[in-house]
Amino acid sequence: MAKMTVRDIDVRGKRVLCRVDFNVPLEGSRISDDSRIQESMPTINHIVGNGGRLILVAHFGRPKGKVSDEMRLTPVAARLGEILGKAVRLFDPFAEGWDQAEAASRALADGDVMMLENIRFHPGEEKGDEDLARSLARLGDVYVNDAFGAAHRAHSSTATVAKHVQPAVAGFLMEKELKFLGEALANPERPFIAIIGGSKISTKFGVLDALLGKVDRLLIGGGMAYTFFKAKGFAIGKSICEDDQIEAAKALMAKAGDKLMLPVDTVYADEFSDDAKVITYPVDEVPSNCEMQGLDIGPETISLMEDCIMTSKTIFWNGPLGVFELERFAEGTEQVGRFIVESGATSIVGGGESAAACRKYGFAGEITHISTGGGASLEFIEGRSLPGVEALTDK
Ligand code: 3PG
Repeated sequence: MAKMTVRDIDVRGKRVLCRVDFNVPLEGSRISDDSRIQESMPTINHIVGNGGRLILVAHFGRPKGKVSDEMRLTPVAARLGEILGKAVRLFDPFAEGWDQAEAASRALADGDVMMLENIRFHPGEEKGDEDLARSLARLGDVYVNDAFGAAHRAHSSTATVAKHVQPAVAGFLMEKELKFLGEALANPERPFIAIIGGSKISTKFGVLDALLGKVDRLLIGGGMAYTFFKAKGFAIGKSICEDDQIEAAKALMAKAGDKLMLPVDTVYADEFSDDAKVITYPVDEVPSNCEMQGLDIGPETISLMEDCIMTSKTIFWNGPLGVFELERFAEGTEQVGRFIVESGATSIVGGGESAAACRKYGFAGEITHISTGGGASLEFIEGRSLPGVEALTDK
């Protein structure tokens, strides 16, 4: 690790301004998956346990610079308080002002924890605003960034602030993410394969292109596969397709050659529901007048993927292979996840929906590393520098 970490500083009696990614899924006001909070507990416990005075900064959702009652961090602060077994004060600098926020930070005792209200309520946060960064800097004697999931954002609280509070160091989660993702890609045991799903090819093009240069096979599934099928001249019925990406898909196929494994059959449905009527078509036999949409990979594809996965030694997986939130179309995602675990390969799952699938089917504990970052892990793998990491103090 070329950057300083929380291990390198003495936090006792200091106000530790710590950016975390607590952007957790909510069902009503209930947190349905608190993994992102749990994953930052080693950093939080270290700071609290060593007498630091912790001021947490987090975002929630995309309130676009406006205060939104639905996007308050109240449930998150409550959950953290439960885990810590002590109250976490949620301080709202947008209502009470930054002078009061600074005063509150100075009133903390060793081991106390407070959290700032959703930092994205400030219109400057996502612009990397200097004034906001200076306001934040008044609250900390040192800065810790543990928000790997937001490290690809050059925002005030993830990057700019580090100019104003030194040292700026990585938390344990940040360090762990960079280690696993970095090592897996730098020197993977081979065969090394990547399995990329999800609905939009446009959001994953960079990573597909970058992975081609690193992996032995690149397996594609999910909604993005239909853009490739259309590029091949196959009918795709009402399936999701990004027409403006067809040329790019053709270029990628030409560049990849045999490395690319596209589905050979997919499951078509007459409606987006568990009660849908379904037909499995080989990808080149979908009728030209088909009114159905493809929602999962088919059995032949699952079997081909199984053969490939079982002989691999390192596997990176990002994105579901079908619409797994509907039981009827979950087969591909669930099976592929199971093969990854059964293969015994070093397995890295890149955030978001594929991580949710691992938890849903109960094999999350058997994956070598599940990243807390969706977009961040993809940008890292693409080889792009992460502003939240760049901004930290060199060792
Ligand atoms: C995420 O959920 O991937 C991170 O918290 C980043 O959120 P964002 O995509 O809204 O910046």
